[in-house]
Amino acid sequence: MIVLPGTRSRRLGKRLAERLGSDIITPEVDTFPDGEVYVRVPERLDGETVVVVQTTLGNDRIMEALLLLDAARAQGAERVIAAVPYYSYSRQDQRFKDGEAFSSHVVARALSLDADVLLTVDPHKEHILDGFTGETLSVSAIPEIAAHLKSQNVDLVLAPDKGALDRAKEAAQVLGCEHDHLEKTRLSGDEVVMKAKHLDVKGRTVAIIDDIISTGGTMAKATGHLMDQGATKVYCAATHGLFVGNASRRLMEKGVAAVIVTDTIERDESVISAAPAVERGLRRLLGLKEATV
Ligand code: R5P
Repeated sequence: MIVLPGTRSRRLGKRLAERLGSDIITPEVDTFPDGEVYVRVPERLDGETVVVVQTTLGNDRIMEALLLLDAARAQGAERVIAAVPYYSYSRQDQRFKDGEAFSSHVVARALSLDADVLLTVDPHKEHILDGFTGETLSVSAIPEIAAHLKSQNVDLVLAPDKGALDRAKEAAQVLGCEHDHLEKTRLSGDEVVMKAKHLDVKGRTVAIIDDIISTGGTMAKATGHLMDQGATKVYCAATHGLFVGNASRRLMEKGVAAVIVTDTIERDESVISAAPAVERGLRRLLGLKEATV
């Protein structure tokens, strides 16, 4: 197996290759003077299973992923796996209004051009992968997030809304604590309201777990609500940290104890690696023995 990391997932790709003990080839990626993306895979890949690791955040990085898949194929790869740690456009997961583009499906269909398999981490909704014509697999980074929270003596794990309850439940099982959910309604792209819900949080340490932190609006509202009800400490954790605009500051100003995200989007806040989650998926896909660590 050969790992081919795109520019958005260089660190994660390296960690993944180390865990798998597989070769890694760093592709050449450049930008033409007119802004178009250039990609070259410098070595033959005849007969190999090639894992292109690329978070598709940013339109150029989607293009880069598509070009990497094409170049891997052109260099003779036998099986091409698109490992997309953060799958962009995932929140336009249907045509909410007549005439809208179904963006998440468009990305999946485009990736189908040269990839045999699509693997992703904690997609916003499972059905967004349906547009992909080959095999798909999503893996969860909740075990890694929960392991990170283990030393924080968390008493309660909360999902921001009912739809995210399964993630909270999974983490709570690892942490051996209770779980529940808040009642979130989104008013606009950066504005959410939390319906008053009384929770027994007085004097307790709470972790809120979501799939994405984007503007930080959801986490900020939830944290405020919990602090008002007497929570001692609030941890905000998510798989994907987009941190749009002043999201980090917004959370710090609310008195959050720590913001924890993985490296599906590589940033300073990426204190956890999603590489073990991607590795689990690859081992399952390829019928390899599970990793021991
Ligand atoms: C939405 O349904 C997602 O699960 C997240 O809750 C959302 O993307 C978070 O966005 P923000 O940080 O802007 O509130």
